[in-house]
Amino acid sequence: MSNKPKDPSETGLRKGLTSYGDKGFSLFLRKAFIKGAGYTNSALDRPVIGIINTGSAYNPCHGNMPQLLEAVKRGVMLAGGLPMEFPTISIHESFAAPTSMYLRNLMSMDTEEMLRAQPMDAVVLIGGCDKTVPAQMMGAASAGLPAIQLITGSMLTGSHRSERVGACTDCRRYWGKFRAGEIDETEKDEVNDQLVASVGTCSVMGTASTMACISEALGMTVPGGATPPAVTADRIRVAEETGACAVKMAKEGLTIDKVLTADAFENAMRVLLAIGGSTNGIVHLAAIAGRMGLEIDLDALDKMGEETPVLVDLKPSGDHYMENFHDAGGMATLLRELKPLLKLDAMTVSGRTLGEEIDAAPPSFRQDVVRPFNKPIYPRGSIAVLHGNLAPGGAIIKQSAADENLMEHEGRAVVFENAADLANRIDSPELDVTAEDILVLKNIGPKGAPGMPEAGYIPIPMKLARAGVKDIVRISDGRMSGTAFGTIVLHVTPESAIGGPLAHVRNGDRIRLSVKNRELSLLISNEELAQRIKDNPITPPTAERGYKKLFLQTVTQADKGVDFDFLRAAKMVGKTPQSK
Ligand code: FES
Repeated sequence: MSNKPKDPSETGLRKGLTSYGDKGFSLFLRKAFIKGAGYTNSALDRPVIGIINTGSAYNPCHGNMPQLLEAVKRGVMLAGGLPMEFPTISIHESFAAPTSMYLRNLMSMDTEEMLRAQPMDAVVLIGGCDKTVPAQMMGAASAGLPAIQLITGSMLTGSHRSERVGACTDCRRYWGKFRAGEIDETEKDEVNDQLVASVGTCSVMGTASTMACISEALGMTVPGGATPPAVTADRIRVAEETGACAVKMAKEGLTIDKVLTADAFENAMRVLLAIGGSTNGIVHLAAIAGRMGLEIDLDALDKMGEETPVLVDLKPSGDHYMENFHDAGGMATLLRELKPLLKLDAMTVSGRTLGEEIDAAPPSFRQDVVRPFNKPIYPRGSIAVLHGNLAPGGAIIKQSAADENLMEHEGRAVVFENAADLANRIDSPELDVTAEDILVLKNIGPKGAPGMPEAGYIPIPMKLARAGVKDIVRISDGRMSGTAFGTIVLHVTPESAIGGPLAHVRNGDRIRLSVKNRELSLLISNEELAQRIKDNPITPPTAERGYKKLFLQTVTQADKGVDFDFLRAAKMVGKTPQSK
């Protein structure tokens, strides 16, 4: 890369001067204020590297932020830059009501506008918990600066009565055992102490780990940036390297549009399929791509799945945890296996292509977490895209986490109108439900809840759970945590709250799910469906003021990433993936 910024008046502290009508005075004033913090002219003449601090007492997934900040600053200074740390909002999954997804776009706006407003030549985005990384990349993509992602890293696993446990697949598993009466109150409290054994993000292939791997596949982290756990020396070294890399990017003018290309998104989707990644990854990729003017082609993604096996043996699709993936060589091991399928010319933040980084990675060694291409953990990609009269805009299922026996299934609909209705009735002994039925939950889509909460993991009704039923087909317009497991159809588009066909499913209707045929059908005639739509017009939800009003007026559907319509690129320039 040699396209350096030409005009020195457009770099460092001189960038984006506050408007006082007199440029010279604006810079004079800015320097006077920053010198109040004790900076010298020599420091202020260096490339300025913004570092986003998303530490928060409400966000233990970012609990190593002080150590990361220190290491990034060290890297920036060793490379001759001036580190400037600043905050944005931070979002943790369990501390964000009604759901973290409701706030992702707000965080992306905060990120974008702070990158635009404050002078910096490059930015280090530090995020980890599920929505933070996509929010930061969405914001940075729109701001257009050189930007590099630093992941906080995964938590360590704990031990419960000699069994290794980690959030959050095991959280759900143990809660399921408690609901089924298999463990008592005392054991429930005991395991609660062990599920999150350190600061850091969830230790399985949930959304946070998925987005970490996707970030590296997109070329947005330094090589090896996805997998080191939060509390390890490797993670701190990655932070230092990230700081140094940001200075290089600033000097070379390696802006984010040179990294986030259609090829980069295709690599990210390939990796999403091969890691058995969270279904949320698709929504986030659609949102980030939308900022770059690219539409995600869901059908092309589905076709990619046919030639992309799941290779990473991590929970919930497999057996291991993120720390094992790191010990197995991390993303370098996986990318080496996927190499024939990757777009190797895609540029990365290091200034080298993905292919060059794969070639430069340390040699492979024996390990049992990343399978060889010809001995996969699951023969096809983890995610399948469904169509049919119930989901004209598509729906998805994580087939690698589903029960093989339920993937071709026809059953009677047991309908819940919304999350409150579900909470009221799901455990009622009077609920008319059998293991052959299909649970349908409406109104948990982007506008319905609002914010498309991870409520698509509908619990097994208590009476079935107590009878030993472990899985049942479930359908909704919501999302589910990447740590969840089951035959669960998600992201039904258009959602019920805006009048999608899902809104018109009734108790007792027959529904057919065929993953083989990529079909999700409500087994009523077109005439009957049209009549129901006519008889029951849906009024989309509204709000009187504030962020909720903005959200409900502008949020897009799942296939567009649930981004706000006015935040997507003004002009769409293409589709990704392009290979079919
Ligand atoms: Fe933060 Fe799972 S709760 S990554």
